[in-house]
Formats: sequence, C-alpha cells, structure tokens
Amino acid sequence: MASPAPAEATAAAGPMVPRPFRVAARRREAADTWTLALEPADGGPPPAFRPGQFNMLYAFGVGEVPISISGDPAAGGPLEHTVRAVGPASAAICRAEPGEQLGVRGPFGSSWPLQAAAGRHVVVVAGGIGLAPLRPALLGALAARERLAGLVLLCGGRTPEQLLFRSQLERWGEDPRLELGVTVDSAEPGWLGQVGVVTTLIGDAPFDPASAVAFVVGPEVMMRFAIEALLARGMAASDVYISIERNMKCAVTHCGRCQFGPTFACREGPVMSFAAIERFFRTREV
Ligand SMILES: Cc1cc2nc3c(=O)[nH]c(=O)nc-3n(C[C@H](O)[C@H](O)[C@H](O)COP(=O)(O)OP(=O)(O)OC[C@H]3O[C@@H](n4cnc5c(N)ncnc54)[C@H](O)[C@@H]3O)c2cc1C
Ligand code: FES
Repeated sequence: MASPAPAEATAAAGPMVPRPFRVAARRREAADTWTLALEPADGGPPPAFRPGQFNMLYAFGVGEVPISISGDPAAGGPLEHTVRAVGPASAAICRAEPGEQLGVRGPFGSSWPLQAAAGRHVVVVAGGIGLAPLRPALLGALAARERLAGLVLLCGGRTPEQLLFRSQLERWGEDPRLELGVTVDSAEPGWLGQVGVVTTLIGDAPFDPASAVAFVVGPEVMMRFAIEALLARGMAASDVYISIERNMKCAVTHCGRCQFGPTFACREGPVMSFAAIERFFRTREV
C-alpha cells in the first residue's frame, strides 16, 4: 500500500500531534512582539482558518502556547501569528529565525461572527496585542464592506512604539471604508494622535448602537471598561463579543485547563458573546 502524503499523515496523527512548520518570514512589530509567517515543512497546504481562531505553537524543547492567527483568511499562503514575548515559550517562538521549525496544532476554537454582521455597524476595539486576533476579522470586514452599515476600529497601545501593524494602521487611517481611532497611554515627542486609554474613544465613535456588533480584545481590565462603555452606549450584551485568552494546554477539551463551569474556552471560545460569558468573565482564573 502506498504511504500517505506527509500532510495526510500529520492529519491522521490527530489534533494532539504538532505538524512541523518552517518560519518563512519574521517581522518585528514592537520591542517585544514579532509576526511570524509559517509554512508547512512537509510541503502541503496550510490549513484553512476562520478569523478569531488560534493555533497551538510549539517551540521544540521549550513549550507549547496558544496563539491566534493574525493573517488574512482569504489570502492563503503562510499562516501569520503575532506573538509577544512574555515568558519562555513565547520568547522562544519570537526568536525563531527564517528556516527554523515550530510545531503547529490547529486551528482551534470559535470565530468572530462576521456573517451575522451583514447590514450592521462593526465596531472593533483593540488594546495592545489584542489587535492581532482582531486583524483577520478587520480584513474580512473590509473585504465585505459593502454589506456592512459601517466599520469602526478603535485601537490603543501603551506608547506609539507599542502599536502593532503601524504601516497598516496608517493605510487604514486613509481608507474611507473605515473609521479609525488610535490612542496611546503615554505619548512621545512627535506623536500627533490622541492620548488616553482606548475605552475613552467609545463614547464618540460613529456607530449606531442599536444596529452594531462589537469585537473586543485586550488586557482583561481594558475589556471590562470597553464592555461597560459599549453597554452604556446602548448595545446589547449579546452583540458584544470578546476573545477569552485563558491559559490552555490541550486545546481539545481533554485537560480542563481552560474550563469554567460547563464551558471550555478552547471549544466554545475563544470568541464568545459577553452575554454568554458574563458570569465567568468576572471570575479570576483558578
Ligand atoms: C486563545 C488564545 C489566543 C492567544 N493569542 C495570542 C496572540 O495572538 N499573541 C500573543 O502574544 N499571545 C497570545 N495569547 C497568550 C499566550 O498564549 C501567552 O502569552 C503564552 O501562553 C505565555 O506563555 P509563556 O510560556 O511564554 O509564558 P508564561 O511563563 O506561561 O507566562 C508569562 C507571563 O504571561 C502571563 N500569561 C500567560 N498566559 C497568558 C494569557 N493567556 N493571557 C495573559 N497573560 C498570560 C503569565 O501569567 C505570566 O505573567 C493567547 C492566549 C490564548 C488562550
Ligand atoms: S485547553 Fe484543555 S480543556 Fe481546554
């Protein structure tokens, strides 16, 4: 019997076995943050994914961590991930040079409900590294812009240097299809934009709360204030979606690491409506 092609063999091995991917390109986004483009080392096609889904990236010999896919789902080609070095595994992934290999399992999890946004305003609120999991949704919303009532991106960083995808942000700032608000917590000489936390942009943002759907990712405290501001504008909790970035180990509902009550963040999440998650969102990790 003929042996299976490498990609088929990897798929047959199941969702717990990492597939080797080669770093095709690496781009620095901020002092501690890199975007890596990964292509399958076995020559097969990269897996399809939906905006908001994540992969488990394995730095061989160091550790495996969940990282959202930050590239364009419609583009095909290498899978992009934008990673902030905060500990051993994420730092090892950020150090991976073109040609080196990482293990990839996935994609896993739920996605931003772009289909349900037809005819409505889409409001994207990103804090820091939170822009990475939201970027595929923004690119998808721009591709389907004529079907939306409006598109707003509110984006915050600690400093101008910490803002991700800066050249893309500049292009989006000139794109008439998108209303862009950018702010930083503390400015540096030469910064001409706004100063303050991103949640302060929500009150005056140009969208109709009655017909809006919001996607929010950032540090938990930022998400809390953003949700409050969106609800204060009159949005329903069921129209506000967040990405729950609780720690994960298996990503396939085996280990219980991401479980809260009957819900597994790796299965029902990471993207969930605030209405579905409210009770647990206010609970710290156990
Ligand atoms: C679904 C999902 C998607 C994610 N997407 C991205 C992404 O696109 N880019 C990215 O850079 N990171 C992302 N993360 C976070 C990333 O997985 C963690 O930063 C990583 O697991 C840290 O592992 P480490 O071994 O490098 O550091 P560790 O030694 O495990 O942790 C270092 C520090 O980071 C904190 N930390 C660890 N995990 C998290 C977490 N999930 N959230 C907040 N703080 C954490 C720890 O408490 C500790 O203070 C995502 C997490 C989840 C669950
Ligand atoms: S990460 Fe293991 S159960 Fe979700």
